[in-house]
Order: sequence, then structure tokens, then C-alpha cells
Amino acid sequence: MQAGGAARFVPGEMALVLDPTGKRYLICLADQDTLHHHLGTVQHADIIGQLDGARVRSSQGRVFTVVRPRLIDAILEMPRKSGIVYPKDAAHLLAWADVAPGQRVLESGVGSGALTLALLRAVGERGQVIGYEVRSDFLELALSNVHAQANPRPTNLLLREHDIYTGIPDQDFDRVVLDLPEPWRVVPHVRAALKPGGWLAAYTPSIVQAGHLVETVRATGRFVQIETNEVLLRGWHIQGQAVRPEHEMVGHTGFVNVARLVGEL
Ligand SMILES: C[S@@+](CC[C@H](N)C(=O)[O-])C[C@H]1O[C@@H](n2cnc3c(N)ncnc32)[C@H](O)[C@@H]1O
Repeated sequence: MQAGGAARFVPGEMALVLDPTGKRYLICLADQDTLHHHLGTVQHADIIGQLDGARVRSSQGRVFTVVRPRLIDAILEMPRKSGIVYPKDAAHLLAWADVAPGQRVLESGVGSGALTLALLRAVGERGQVIGYEVRSDFLELALSNVHAQANPRPTNLLLREHDIYTGIPDQDFDRVVLDLPEPWRVVPHVRAALKPGGWLAAYTPSIVQAGHLVETVRATGRFVQIETNEVLLRGWHIQGQAVRPEHEMVGHTGFVNVARLVGEL
């Protein structure tokens, strides 16, 4: 992943341009390209070679700010063909399933790769993410999204075209992370693939799915710390006397379910 800080912007890199009002534009830098804006054009060439946080002037002399995008900025803007796990849910999932540097994580389905990017960030270079996905077109999109954000390209990501309902051919995972229509069908396979003490995490859009998963997990007698949460995120507008919640919020996305595998008696 791009570390930010002292490295200068280079062609091919993503940059987040903030206009004088703070409105954001995510661009991929290219020597000859131009950002067209009603407050003037901004030449990519004026950004390339600058440091993170640089101020550049548009053709109308207006000041634009250029920063490296946060991973969540890039995830929300990247091309997608599937529903994605939104950053608020991904952050919660990473914390509740205790995903940490050096871990070996199984992810399925991979979809557009939004959660894959968050997992790669969390496990770091010493960790590994293995992703199973049934659709080859989704695998291609996910890989292209990961490569667009990760520089240099990660060598610790392995994507397989595989139906996880039929089994888990890899083993010794510290974490298994699911975003599938029927995650409960994976539970019988998870017990052999996940190390004891490891966490299973599953994102489910509906509470009916969450209920089915939780009851399946509980019935095995092999999981503890079984928890289901919904994350509500409400931004606030703070400007002078105008201090109030944002008028709009994402009302519902889904549920984050976690459970921890323990040994047999
Ligand atoms: C909602 S999308 C995942 C989105 C992804 N978490 C993201 O953040 O971009 C669900 C994915 O699961 C895949 N899928 C469905 N059934 C599957 C199975 N049995 N094995 C592997 N992948 C499966 C679908 O093709 C789809 O890409």
C-alpha cells in the first residue's frame, strides 16, 4: 500500500483533489490529463512530483489541495459489480474479529474486492489473504481494484475461483471472513480450516440470514463469543452555531456476526 508522507506523487497513482469548498475528486494521475472544474482546470502535471498535501492553482487561480486518498475514499469510489462491505462495517468486522498483522485470513466471496483491501491492510505484508469467489468476472474486477490501490502489488493475496459451499481446500487460517448469500453452508467446513481460537466473521445484509447463521454456529457446540451487531454511523455538521447531525445518513447496510472456534472436549 502507498504509505503517504514523504513520497512524491507519481503518474499512475491515485490522488484526491479537494476544491476550495472541500468537495472531493478522486483521480488517477497521468502526465497529459486535466481535471475540469467550474473554478478552472487543474493539470495533473502540476500535481505529479508534489508532496502529499500540496496546494496547486487552477487555470482561474483558485487553490486546490491534493492528498493521498484514505483507503476508504478509494473503496467508496472504485468500480463495483457487487454490493460491497462499507467501511463502517469493515472497520467493525476487523475489530470484532480481531484481524491483526501477520494473520492468515480466508475471505469469501470476494465480490468487488472492497473487504479484500481492508483485510490486506489489516494483515500487513507478513500476513496473507486467500479469497474464494465463484464468478471469474468478479475475481478479475477485485484483482484490478486491489492493484489500483496497492503499490507495490501485494504478493500476499491469493484469489481462487472456487465454490466455498463445496469445501475449503486450504487450511490453518487464523480468521475466516464471509460475505455470502448463505454463510451457514460454510460452517461445517470452517471447523477444519480455522485454527482453534480463531474467529469466524460474516457480514449479512438481512437479520434473517444473521439468525440462520448464528443458530447454525451455536448448534455445533464449537463456538463461543457469538455476537451480532449492526453499526449505525451518523456524521455531524459543525460550523459556527450550526451544529447538528448531517441531514442524510445511510440508514441500514447489514449485520456483522462473529464467533470464535474452540477445541473439542
Ligand atoms: C456481496 S458480494 C461480496 C462483496 C465483497 N465483500 C466486497 O466488499 O466487495 C458476494 C459475493 O459472493 C460470491 N459468492 C456467492 N456464492 C459463493 C460461493 N458459494 N462461493 C464463493 N463465492 C460465492 C458472489 O459471486 C459475490 O461476488
